[in-house]
Amino acid sequence: MSRCDPHSWCDDGQAVTRHLDLSWKVDVAARVLEGEVRLTFAAPATGPLDLDSRGLIVAGIRTHRDEPVDWSVDESDPVLGERLRLELPTGTEAVTIRYRTGPAASALGWLDPIQTTGGRHPFLFTQCQPIHARSLVPCQDTPRHRVTYTALVDVPAPLRAVMSAAPGGDEPAGPGRTRWRFAMPQAIPTYLLALAVGDLDRRDLGPRSRIYAEPDMIDAAAWEFAEVEAMIRAAERLFGPYEWDRFDLLLMPPAFPYGGMENPRLTFLTPTLLSGDRSLVNVVVHELAHSWTGNLVTNATMNDFWLNEGFTVYAERRILEELHGREFADLQGVLRRNALQVHLDQFGPDSPLTKLRTDLAGIDPDEVYSLVPYEKGAQFVILLERAVGRPRFDAFLREYIDRFRFRSITTDEFIAFLEEELPGVLDAVDGRRWIDGPGMPANEHRTSAPALDRLRALAAGWSAGARPGPESAAWSPTELQLFLQDLPRPLPHDDCRWLDEAFALTGRGNHEVLVEWLTIAARSGYAPVRPRLRQVLGRVGRMKYLKPLYGALMAAGDDGPAFAREVFAAAAPGYHPLSRGSLKNIVGT
Ligand code: BES
Ligand code: ZN
Repeated sequence: MSRCDPHSWCDDGQAVTRHLDLSWKVDVAARVLEGEVRLTFAAPATGPLDLDSRGLIVAGIRTHRDEPVDWSVDESDPVLGERLRLELPTGTEAVTIRYRTGPAASALGWLDPIQTTGGRHPFLFTQCQPIHARSLVPCQDTPRHRVTYTALVDVPAPLRAVMSAAPGGDEPAGPGRTRWRFAMPQAIPTYLLALAVGDLDRRDLGPRSRIYAEPDMIDAAAWEFAEVEAMIRAAERLFGPYEWDRFDLLLMPPAFPYGGMENPRLTFLTPTLLSGDRSLVNVVVHELAHSWTGNLVTNATMNDFWLNEGFTVYAERRILEELHGREFADLQGVLRRNALQVHLDQFGPDSPLTKLRTDLAGIDPDEVYSLVPYEKGAQFVILLERAVGRPRFDAFLREYIDRFRFRSITTDEFIAFLEEELPGVLDAVDGRRWIDGPGMPANEHRTSAPALDRLRALAAGWSAGARPGPESAAWSPTELQLFLQDLPRPLPHDDCRWLDEAFALTGRGNHEVLVEWLTIAARSGYAPVRPRLRQVLGRVGRMKYLKPLYGALMAAGDDGPAFAREVFAAAAPGYHPLSRGSLKNIVGT
């Protein structure tokens, strides 16, 4: 046998799935999806077929000719889940697997009504990236293969179901139930399968975009993301036509563990983006950029994840530059380069987890998630761009997308393509050191901007008594955040008070600024922010915020750790299983 992906049981020598027909009944009370999936193969197949599964309870399997199929489930691997082995009779074109999801399905986020904005209806959402689709459906859960799909989803009225697919209408499905239809004509890797069920309203934002959100949030969300068509046009100018027909958005409840997830045709977004000033739309731009880098050209395995995220961060900045100018995009880049440094320091200078190409066999990708593939990846792409100049690099990117669209590629395939198209540039930028060496190579490009120099000088003088003057009232949220990032920590309580009074930080709705501030305050043991901290930690599930906040409390000298454990104990039942898992390690319970 030959495994094609260290995070899947899939076997190169076996049948390949090309299409899924899903049919689920959503049982909210039992927190279970029950139904079936029909897997159609690329060609008639015979013999063993290994599928991925995690906690699924299989009821029976039959071929397209309605013959029974023998199957067995292996012992569970902590990272991969269970291998579900089918023995296909000669010439099997498709199989139908009847099954239900297990009690701890890692892809499923079940929320009680109280965790939603409306407070009246439950909510369900999936998060399949990186390797959770297997807890939702038995499949070849590797980005090496792509599938089209259809789905029938039976949910309690008045809830609406939405998916990473084209909606095909709804019909009554017995008393108090509605059946929603979907079809996904573009082939996707299984990590892009997505479903959400909730009390959802919708509003058009442009000719090919609409926003779905809980009714109480729809106005604010429609305002915040009103620029979406301009974003798509800018992206198309840079990277070619948008290939997914629709770019709809779904505003998630606060428990959603990420900022955004690029589910095709339906990007999922955290409600912490609703800052009221459109200053956090870069996350939408990022997920949009994945429509080219990630969803069209897909990483072959999680070892090549930097191809998805590094190129997407680069593309995100290019789109932002088109929309808001060079300085805006540059300052965003510096913000995130600063954040990367924190992760690099946590890993240490020689850590293999700071390489672009990783070897994650035996490792749960969720546990090593960091900004390395994102920001180190983007820095590498910037270097390539600078080495050949924008016009040539833009042509290269177009060619890259064109050559590999609807395919998956490894880092080696990328290197070969780069050498072919732009000979010599890999060596010129010391590319192998970037890809296979740890840390940040010395030749990284350093962004300079007058605004940045002023902010850095001001923060550097803080301990000697320098303070921002009245001009700081006009700082953008990004400038304020850059200044806060550079401040020493812990800070004396008097300094914390000064900052909070000068910038009204504790009351901010922009979560990037708010969390940067709360991290400083928590690390400094500054108690007046405790009620606000408790509120944020109790409601927001975005790991990007939870991890540094709990980390800062645990590092504080006072009763921070005790406070962290108390808040965690109260909030944990509401967190997504993913967030709960990684926070447990930080809080140490
Ligand atoms: N695809 C990622 C989210 C993801 C990665 C989920 C790996 C699970 C495993 C998404 O595109 C992303 O990167 N989101 C970022 C947004 C950002 C970098 C602007 C986030 O959630 O913070
Ligand atoms: Zn991304």
